[in-house]
Amino acid sequence: MRLPFICSAFGAFVSLSSATILQNGQVRITNYPNTVFNGSTAQFSTYPPHATELSYKGRWDSKFISWWSAPGLKFGFTGQEVAITFGPYTTDTVLVGYRIDGQDWQLTNITTNATHLLVDSTTVGVNLTSPVNPSTFEMRVTNWASGVQIASIHVGKGEKLVKVPDFGRTIEVIGDSLSSGYSATLEGLSSYAYGLTAGLGNTEYSLTAYPGVCLFDKQCYGNLRGMFYQWFQTSDTSGRAIDIWGDNPEVWNFSNQPAADIVIINLGTNDNNHVNNVSTTGYVAQYTMLIEGVHAIWPKAQIILIALWEGFDTVGNTYIQSTLDSDVGFVPQIYSIYEYFNSKEYLQNPVLYDPVKNSTYQSQTPSDPFVHYFNTTGILQHNDIGPQYHPTDAGHIKLASHLMQYIKMKFDWPLYATGPEVFHDTLYWNDQTSY
Ligand SMILES: *[C@@H]1O[C@H](CO)[C@@H](O)[C@H](O)[C@H]1NC(C)=O
Ligand SMILES: *[C@@H]1O[C@H](CO)[C@@H](O)[C@H](O)[C@H]1NC(C)=O
Ligand SMILES: *[C@@H]1O[C@H](CO)[C@@H](O)[C@H](O)[C@H]1NC(C)=O
Ligand SMILES: *[C@@H]1O[C@H](CO)[C@@H](O)[C@H](O)[C@H]1NC(C)=O
Ligand SMILES: *[C@@H]1O[C@H](CO)[C@@H](O)[C@H](O)[C@H]1NC(C)=O
Ligand SMILES: *[C@@H]1O[C@H](CO)[C@@H](O)[C@H](O)[C@H]1NC(C)=O
Ligand SMILES: *[C@@H]1O[C@H](CO)[C@@H](O)[C@H](O)[C@H]1NC(C)=O
Ligand SMILES: *[C@@H]1O[C@H](CO)[C@@H](O)[C@H](O)[C@H]1NC(C)=O
Repeated sequence: MRLPFICSAFGAFVSLSSATILQNGQVRITNYPNTVFNGSTAQFSTYPPHATELSYKGRWDSKFISWWSAPGLKFGFTGQEVAITFGPYTTDTVLVGYRIDGQDWQLTNITTNATHLLVDSTTVGVNLTSPVNPSTFEMRVTNWASGVQIASIHVGKGEKLVKVPDFGRTIEVIGDSLSSGYSATLEGLSSYAYGLTAGLGNTEYSLTAYPGVCLFDKQCYGNLRGMFYQWFQTSDTSGRAIDIWGDNPEVWNFSNQPAADIVIINLGTNDNNHVNNVSTTGYVAQYTMLIEGVHAIWPKAQIILIALWEGFDTVGNTYIQSTLDSDVGFVPQIYSIYEYFNSKEYLQNPVLYDPVKNSTYQSQTPSDPFVHYFNTTGILQHNDIGPQYHPTDAGHIKLASHLMQYIKMKFDWPLYATGPEVFHDTLYWNDQTSY
């Protein structure tokens, strides 16, 4: 039996925020501390959402609304308090992770229009000396379909925000449910895309991934547009985005953030599912133009194409990965795209893509090779795929670890993360040594 990746339209049109979560058949406890601040904000020094000390990570629009997977906000602060007032476009009860410096992620559900006191004198680590002085606050939204809107930031009276410089290297991940952490424990914060980028350490990241989306620009599982169009926009394909921006999303200004050094593309699993009726030639044509568009925006970026997989089949008394014996998952097509971009013909006369005109044009200068192929065969085994047809938390960790090592060896990137937590809620162990 083939296990198709069924990325349903959930993300696009249904709010999941308050559903009971079952894990291994048990109800997951989600009684995260309520951080709503019930007092007056007069006791704080308050900054507007456009304060230059704030660093927005991933994609946020001109109303300071977050989009896509694991978007973040980071800033330094003096004193012992951080509170954030969230705006009306915040998804009520959305789960966010936040922490100061290298402490473990803490989780809290955010209330629309409320002020949340996230750091005070009782917060773990607040009194400890930090190698980063002053302390750095970071927040990430966990759920791909939900988001927050920043209305204002507060620190203790007379205290101040401090700009935290960007790390010197940046990764962009362009993907679907597989990259957004769909059905993983903490969604965005459990995904291989987050685990790879946070796991490398000292790396800025933007995870433009949304469940069910196709690469080819058509409606797939309730996502009205494909990534060939949507990647160039600020907002994602959620129902939330349609409510706020209709069919007129803000075009993403790539100058808002540092140029990506590495771009990872993991797209096609939804195109490959016959229910979405994407033709192979259409997929290859738009995949090629998407790469040409990325290369036009970031000429120095190295682009890694992730080979797709489609779950496992039982064969006789064992399992095999579906892509090993067929073109399921567009495996030969993605390899051919990789070969095309490494051919002499392309590199001597590179073609680029302009999303505004929706047309390709000839570059004036030859290019060095910049497209790479990441073979996923052999990384995941059948029990690394959960009942929702997506990697389990362990599956995400395996993918992230292999990609970290691939990037280290291929591009000579040191592993800078040497201690602080990357994956939260993954600590399980035996207390007994003899049994
Ligand atoms: C907090 O978020 C989690 C994950 O979305 C959700 O399961 C839980 O119901 C939320 N809790 C509250 C009190 O809204
Ligand atoms: C704010 O009030 C709510 C509702 O009464 C309560 O559940 C919550 O614990 C209070 N939060 C703080 C930070 O005092
Ligand atoms: C949030 O505040 C706005 C006014 O700023 C109001 O229109 C809206 O109804 C509020 N939303 C909720 C859920 O309270
Ligand atoms: C931090 O120091 C303050 C003042 O000495 C104390 O009240 C508070 O309990 C300390 N916080 C932690 C988390 O240790
Ligand atoms: C894009 O952002 C850059 C840098 O912030 C700015 O100079 C430029 O005007 C913006 N472009 C558009 C079209 O808004
Ligand atoms: C699939 O796409 C082809 C070509 O665009 C079209 O002719 C056909 O009607 C579509 N089939 C379905 C079931 O939508
Ligand atoms: C962009 O161009 C491609 C062909 O190069 C075409 O298939 C696609 O429909 C166009 N998209 C839009 C939105 O016009
Ligand atoms: C990917 O890896 C598998 C398993 O090692 C191998 O059979 C296959 O030939 C590789 N594909 C490519 C394009 O190198």
